[in-house]
Amino acid sequence: MRLITRRGFGKAAAATAAVCSGMTLPEFLLAEPKPVRLAFPKGFVWGCATAAYQVEGGVAEDGRGASIWDTFSHQPGNINHGDNGDVTDDSYHRWKEDVALLKGLGTKGYRFSVAWPRIFPTGKAPLNPKGLEYYDRLVDELLKNGIAPYVTMFHWDLPEALPGGWQSRDTAYAFADYAGFVAKRLGDRVQHFMTTNEFDSFTDDGYKSGVSAPGLKLDAAGVNQVRHHAILAHGLGVQAIRAHAPAGTKVGLAEDPKLYCPVMETPEHIEAVRKAFRDNNAPFLAPILDGKYPDSYLAREGANAPKVAEGDMKAISSPLDFIGMNCYHGDYVRADDSKQGYAIEPVPTSHPHMASTWIRLSPECIYWGVRTICELWPEKVPLMYITENGTSSDDVLTADGRVEDVDRVMYLRAHLTQLHRAAEEGYPVKGYFLWSLMDNFEWSDGFSTRFGIYYVDFKSQKRTPKLSAEWYRATIAANAVE
Ligand code: BGC
Repeated sequence: MRLITRRGFGKAAAATAAVCSGMTLPEFLLAEPKPVRLAFPKGFVWGCATAAYQVEGGVAEDGRGASIWDTFSHQPGNINHGDNGDVTDDSYHRWKEDVALLKGLGTKGYRFSVAWPRIFPTGKAPLNPKGLEYYDRLVDELLKNGIAPYVTMFHWDLPEALPGGWQSRDTAYAFADYAGFVAKRLGDRVQHFMTTNEFDSFTDDGYKSGVSAPGLKLDAAGVNQVRHHAILAHGLGVQAIRAHAPAGTKVGLAEDPKLYCPVMETPEHIEAVRKAFRDNNAPFLAPILDGKYPDSYLAREGANAPKVAEGDMKAISSPLDFIGMNCYHGDYVRADDSKQGYAIEPVPTSHPHMASTWIRLSPECIYWGVRTICELWPEKVPLMYITENGTSSDDVLTADGRVEDVDRVMYLRAHLTQLHRAAEEGYPVKGYFLWSLMDNFEWSDGFSTRFGIYYVDFKSQKRTPKLSAEWYRATIAANAVE
């Protein structure tokens, strides 16, 4: 008869396992198995993230102006199933309930965005007082529940009334005025502000491919100028926030840099990752941290390179207190003999991906993203946060009210394991914001793509915790991945 030991091994396997663990067989059989526990640093900020247009609804309430996303989502053919953000999660009314969800998870931080057209309906002063009151209430409720607000000033809902949108340099100045104003009014309670969320998502997607608002397809010169105005807005915004918020307020941004992992962890491939990172983040993060566009980018763009006015680069490279990195997937890179010194590996058709095909499974990218940024700009990056990480899943609500999103849990665990490696090796990662607290308006995908750890029934507005919410609660409580 086959003997099964108390640790589930057959007798022969137990003897081998005992040798491997340096114990005698009896010691091994008596010892309790040691669970793997990846503890995060003390004080690590566990949070969730959302964005105004994706969760608030209430688009025509209390004097809010129109944003380019209202217009875009109402144009037929732009959004899956003709969905729009008019109501979405109705967080404009259910904010208390949503703060209670955050509290129930044990989160210490909530990253949300302020809707610019609620504050300044035309993009510029005067203030719409009722718009500001909404964020006053939200901030107060968060603080009452021991949750720190992390406020993004711009998550794509640009006031429609601003002439030319991001094609106009004036928009950068309007943004700085708006950001300074919000910092002045919320800065007595909010200690962390982010200027903008994901440059390429509102510049390239909005003005190059046109899949996002305002849905334009400009030529290369036009796109580069839009990109330049976006980073200029960020830089001027940093200065305005610092000028209006109390001393000590932390200012950063939330960016989704193109992320790269080495095919093998050897010095030459790691160096190739650094080259690929700077080169492919040339329009955004590189000038923000270097104070100039990379020469290779300017050479590549030639006559289409952005027009830079005097003083722009100084503003753009204003010092930051932290870099927020949004992270969903990365590519694999190898060193080669080419002039640029690296090659980005083609993606095999068999490469696994999540429900959204663009989320190719590559959890090491969170480690390599943090490490590469810290290695490239050691002086410029005092702290890092993961400002977004998460995945869509084909969630199914069972008749008895469960959502067993094991794939999302697998994805999150894999990324947090890699983030733990970064923290363990001493990279200054201070917190992690899961995208997203609840299912919401997923831009051009509408409501069919679900990213939440709470399932939302968009008819009844009922929020149901998924397995991932249970898992995240346990992770936060343990301050560890177990
Ligand atoms: C954006 C979110 C979006 C998420 C999932 C990020 O790029 O900041 O607004 O919902 O990805 O697509």
